[in-house]
Amino acid sequence: MIMSFIELTNVTIKYGSIVALENISFKLEHPFFAIIMGPNGAGKTTLLRALIGLVKPSRGEISVFNLDPVKDPYKVRSIVGYVPQMITVDTSVPLRVRDVVLMGIISKMKPPRVFKTPRINYEIERALKVVGLGELHDELFSILSGGQKQRVMIARAIVTKPKLLLLDEPFSMLDAEAKCELAELIYRLYREMNISILMAAHEISPCLPYEPLILILNKKLYGIGKAHDVLVREVLAKAYAGYMEIGKIAILGEDHG
Ligand SMILES: Nc1ncnc2c1ncn2[C@@H]1O[C@H](COP(=O)(O)OP(=O)(O)OP(=O)(O)O)[C@@H](O)[C@H]1O
Ligand SMILES: [Mg+2]
Repeated sequence: MIMSFIELTNVTIKYGSIVALENISFKLEHPFFAIIMGPNGAGKTTLLRALIGLVKPSRGEISVFNLDPVKDPYKVRSIVGYVPQMITVDTSVPLRVRDVVLMGIISKMKPPRVFKTPRINYEIERALKVVGLGELHDELFSILSGGQKQRVMIARAIVTKPKLLLLDEPFSMLDAEAKCELAELIYRLYREMNISILMAAHEISPCLPYEPLILILNKKLYGIGKAHDVLVREVLAKAYAGYMEIGKIAILGEDHG
């Protein structure tokens, strides 16, 4: 059996003279449930964008299910869903929830964009049901709550049945309850639909019950493993050196009482 996976080999990415990622190597076997954690500017978004060919490595190689995102961006994007860091829907246009999900289908089609409406409608409804918004397909996107909008963005990303879902800071705008509900949904996509998950997040506590694989990133990769292996002082102190945020991260196995 051929294993499918994503693999980075000695990847360095620069923006001009700024080094965003430095000599990153790791491999994740499908299906995986993984979180990239690191301070602001650590290169989390850059790493996600590189996997779909939106930024190119200046050195090293990236393989996504045996495809090179630089050489084959359209093939890669046909099997990868992406939920960007900011919700990128123009709310000055009165779009309905179903229209936002439809954009996920259209954006992956090659011209001429001919499609069968009943089939498309079925796929849109199915994706909205998966994220728990089956009732809201005719609602205006702009009036939804932050948590509901984030779910619509996930429906938009999974409507084309990707093998891999990239999520950039999906929890950032949500309250504690919505964070936990969203973490549960993301975990279900992985467990029940066999979609590999790679998400960037500052806060991983909503996902900890699901025992994700954690990548500690700050330009370099400082650790990769389960919480007990990487959320430890020696790894975090190096990755977060000079950042205030370390005080906010629960270091496992230490008694703060
Ligand atoms: N388009 C760009 N042009 C120039 N520099 C960029 C660009 N995008 C990112 N950078 C720089 O690359 C580095 C990594 O940025 P990136 O957005 O990948 O970090 P991040 O971990 O996602 O940060 P955050 O937690 O704030 O979202 C930063 O120093 C950033 O300023
Ligand atoms: Mg980012």
